[in-house]
Amino acid sequence: MSITYNQEARSFHLTNGRVSYVIALAAGKYPLHVYWGRALRGITEDLVSTLTMYSNENFSLNETPLDRLPQECPTCGMADLREGMLGVRLGDGSTALALEYVGHDIADGKPDLCGLPASHGGNAQTLTLHLKDMYSGLCVDLFYTMFADSDVITRSMRVINATGGDVTLTRALSACVDFQTHDYTLLTLSGAWAREREMVKRPLVYGHQGVGSVHGASGHQASPAFALLEPNATEDIGGVYGFALCYSGSFMADVLVDQFGAARTQLGIQPYDFTWKLAAGERFDAPEAFLCFSAEGLGGMSRSMHAFVHNHVLRSKFANTNRPILINNWEATYFNFNEDKLVAMAKCAKQMGIDLFVLDDGWFGHRDLDNSSLGDWYDDMRKLPGGLAGLSQKIHALGMKFGLWVEPEMISPDSDLYRAHPDWCIHAGERMRVEARRQLVLDMSRADVRDYVVEAICAALERGNVDYVKWDMNRNITMWGSEQLPGERWGELAHRYIMGVYDVMGRITSRFPNVLFESCAGGGGRFDMGMMCYMPQAWCSDDTDAHERCKIQYATSVFFPCSCMGAHVSAVPNHQTGRKTPLKTRAAVAMAGTYGYELDVQKLSAEERAEIRELNKRVHKIQKLLLYGDFYRLRSPYEGNETAWMTVSANKKEALVTFVQALAKPNSIPMLLKLAGLDPKKNYRDEATGIVYGGDELMNYGYRIKEPKGEAVEAKHDFQSWQIHLVAVK
Ligand code: GLA
Repeated sequence: MSITYNQEARSFHLTNGRVSYVIALAAGKYPLHVYWGRALRGITEDLVSTLTMYSNENFSLNETPLDRLPQECPTCGMADLREGMLGVRLGDGSTALALEYVGHDIADGKPDLCGLPASHGGNAQTLTLHLKDMYSGLCVDLFYTMFADSDVITRSMRVINATGGDVTLTRALSACVDFQTHDYTLLTLSGAWAREREMVKRPLVYGHQGVGSVHGASGHQASPAFALLEPNATEDIGGVYGFALCYSGSFMADVLVDQFGAARTQLGIQPYDFTWKLAAGERFDAPEAFLCFSAEGLGGMSRSMHAFVHNHVLRSKFANTNRPILINNWEATYFNFNEDKLVAMAKCAKQMGIDLFVLDDGWFGHRDLDNSSLGDWYDDMRKLPGGLAGLSQKIHALGMKFGLWVEPEMISPDSDLYRAHPDWCIHAGERMRVEARRQLVLDMSRADVRDYVVEAICAALERGNVDYVKWDMNRNITMWGSEQLPGERWGELAHRYIMGVYDVMGRITSRFPNVLFESCAGGGGRFDMGMMCYMPQAWCSDDTDAHERCKIQYATSVFFPCSCMGAHVSAVPNHQTGRKTPLKTRAAVAMAGTYGYELDVQKLSAEERAEIRELNKRVHKIQKLLLYGDFYRLRSPYEGNETAWMTVSANKKEALVTFVQALAKPNSIPMLLKLAGLDPKKNYRDEATGIVYGGDELMNYGYRIKEPKGEAVEAKHDFQSWQIHLVAVK
């Protein structure tokens, strides 16, 4: 790994031998984006000249409008007709900025982004480009970090107000990459509640295209991540550029194809409704963006991103460990439970080899429905006569761990907290306080609110002696306003809100380093890299139907590893879709995430309980492979009737293949599935049949999907699945 500055070509080259990123200074002043992609040995000065159409010496902004140039930090107000990365209103009202290079640093490690979650650890080197607007004195630092063990380059931007007066930021994005053509397919993850992160692919066309959110969270509707695929790139081959934002608030991910057919990609805090006042001497850090190039197709990009998440994003002590198999009472009881019911359920679960019992919503205040008590984090003694302490003690006595649901960012109008502090919620003066799920959102920009939340939640976690927390967030934010910020600064509130959430999450998670935290937002409404920095797993979706989950988890895996995806076996008919899928398939699909159950196990038949016991033994045995193996997508549910994926251990000695067929096909021959990621020179034994195959054979000819005893596939039922456990033999 190296970051070098070539004085002659006035260019910077970041490379690790697999990936290169090149920046050049036109006329020694203007940072241009020259290249990002497959590793180069270097870059000649001539390339930079042809980019600007003039030699470095003769380059002049008057001759070559910025509009024609790929830039590293475009700004508004200069001769660039496209939106820039940074927008300001200077003291004199001007929005024009002409940033010029004034110096750079190349140093080991990476800078701390004030209060923001960010990647960390390992052998890293950072290039900082120092830029300045010569007229106003406003300074900008661009950070580029490379890690020795990763193909991800991280970027972020710091704005320093050295103008001597106030400045208002109107746009402060994290990354801009100007591609010189638009010959790419854009892949985004788009969805809705219970349909999170569906894979959407479209060719780039002239104009703007992209995704974003404006409601205070990354959201169900879109993920702050996207990819550009080179023409003909597939799962296995071709260049793919992945982008992910380490941020959980309102965001923008946009690609603009301009008049010359060039594609400007931008990622960062949502500029719509955003302003930020920077007083003289203050600075603003934009969140970090992860840029991941792979020449090995979409699959290669995903595997690089997964490794990066495991090694440099997750911070919890559970980041690279097995996770407990959990059972959550939500779909089993909803709000209708008491201690006896819960303990009976836990006892039964324990007998089946389940490790952790999670008490979901409804344990506090007087919450019998979703219409009250958020904020009143004290035990409902009607349901739990011994309080959380009593229940937890009984669960622990069974030899199980105890977990708890909380929704710390919320307040119910019907709560003691609201009656005492009606000003603590986000609201716009005297305007209507718009409720959603009959709740309001706490103003996390306020220090007093944050302190209350930290103390109330920590007290509950201590009382309950908890081992696991599910941190929920069940509504979007509307009618932005805060009693502690003057109205003209309400444009800051969305960012201040999420910075407040990060502060609270940081304080609580560091106070409980031995607790496993899972984030959640009405299912997967805040599934992003920012959350992963605090909580190593996130509930993927409230839709627990195995067929739907195939799509959700398949697309989520484009950017996130299995170890981040909460996935549970639930009851049939499924509560969201009414669909009936076999237990075997529900389990096979849930094994692509952090495995658990979400149903009343006491209602299961003896056969089902026995099946679950066996499933749990299996998960306990191969969980490392399931969560941390290299992940290969084999068949896409977006393209046909089948979904297939596999994980392969790093030493390629073990693999687990999962194949799910949605609808039964009459009169079909056994399906042939080409595997991936194995060692072609190794032989692998199919643990179910004992048959040994060559790795080369399995990847080139394929594996014939059949029943263990060799009979034809069970084609007469919908939603069948097969799992093939392969172990290398001498
Ligand atoms: C959200 C979560 C569910 C459950 C409920 C409880 O919808 O996604 O899993 O915890 O809240 O109210």
